[in-house]
Amino acid sequence: MASNYQAPRGTFDVLPADARARRRIEAVAAAIFARAGYETIATPAFEDTELFERGVGRSTDIVRKEMFTFEDKGGRSVTLRPEGTAPICRAYLEHGMHKLAQPVKLAYAGPFFRHERPQAGRYRQFHQIGVEAIGTDSPLADAEAIALLAELLAELGVPGVELRLGSLGSPGTRAAYLEELKAHLRANEGELSKEVRERIEINPLRAFDADDDGTRAVMASAPTLLERLEGEDADHFAEVRALLEAAGVAFTIDPTLVRGLDYYTRTIFSFVCAGLGAQSEVGGGGRYDGLIEQLGGPPTPAVGWATGVERILLALGESEEAVGRDVFVVVAEDDPKWRATASLLAMELRRAGLSAEVDLGGRALKGQLKQADRVGARQALILEGDGAQLRDMKSGQQRSVDTGNLVEEIAGGGA
Ligand code: HAM
Repeated sequence: MASNYQAPRGTFDVLPADARARRRIEAVAAAIFARAGYETIATPAFEDTELFERGVGRSTDIVRKEMFTFEDKGGRSVTLRPEGTAPICRAYLEHGMHKLAQPVKLAYAGPFFRHERPQAGRYRQFHQIGVEAIGTDSPLADAEAIALLAELLAELGVPGVELRLGSLGSPGTRAAYLEELKAHLRANEGELSKEVRERIEINPLRAFDADDDGTRAVMASAPTLLERLEGEDADHFAEVRALLEAAGVAFTIDPTLVRGLDYYTRTIFSFVCAGLGAQSEVGGGGRYDGLIEQLGGPPTPAVGWATGVERILLALGESEEAVGRDVFVVVAEDDPKWRATASLLAMELRRAGLSAEVDLGGRALKGQLKQADRVGARQALILEGDGAQLRDMKSGQQRSVDTGNLVEEIAGGGA
């Protein structure tokens, strides 16, 4: 019977089959991060609202519309974290990590919150796995980070993944370009959608994301930032591309690539998966050379990415099979004393490193064997009279076992 309550809109419960699939993703990611020397960091689920206003940017959709912001009991404005990069930069400064040998390479995983319109692949509470390499402007760091995400998605078996790559240059180049772009938008104002028109001054780059025909036609003839990259920015981008090519990471250059956060400089990238539909980005990120300074720290270049766990799960379209049990301890007779013995025996077997279960539902012998089958037990240990029988659940074969030597008998396999 359903209760009177449901999980809040845009959220979901993680049930066991889903939890197993998530554990596998986290384990694969953890192994990849460990091999590449990215250490785990965890930050709080909420932060001062201003961290995101300054870090993510006041003109972004995230800050304008999507933050879960509230006043705590002390009258402070706090926000459930919509992303992880600004909090990690805050922690980097707070803990003096800028004084450590650079770069500091960090990995994280956890829930994030955005008040978006829910749809497949878009939730109000979702989970990201990500990395940040802070304190280096080397193109090697960009290429390493991108290759790590490519490796993660490949190792997980996410099908049909494509990498799109772009560069935003540095703030000066970008500012000059934005003026040029705004002029182009203003000159064609009549053909733009209302939303794009209203935001020419605030965030003209988002016009590249619009899906109405009018705006798209205007954007087809718009100048791109990539065409305006020069000097060190152009060299940096060329090196990132060359490194990825040498590493065999396939990509396409996307001159209109934009991202929903303001802190990016130079390299930006997006891994998309055609099978995902409207929310096709499975992960993405880029370089954010100005963010730490923006938060009050010394000039500190950095690069990173995050991938959405739910989008990976959707793309994989599968859940994980349950892991079975070594043994299910069964009592032949429905006697409380025997049931207690079986329960204690299961505890002892677990302490010895085996996975063992016992019936907690008061079932008769037949029901217990059925339950053993349901949970995927390889063997059933049937306690009867003075002895015990070990039954191979697959073949149904049974043999008497030495109760003084149960751990070895069970670990040794079925009948
Ligand atoms: P983002 O592009 O906003 O970047 O999010 C990264 C990933 O999180 C997306 O590619 C998507 O897979 C997933 N995601 C985002 N919003 C939702 C949602 N509402 N529901 C489900 N999944 C979602 C960042 O957050 C940056 N902090 C990434 C980064 C790290 N850049 C540099 N370092």
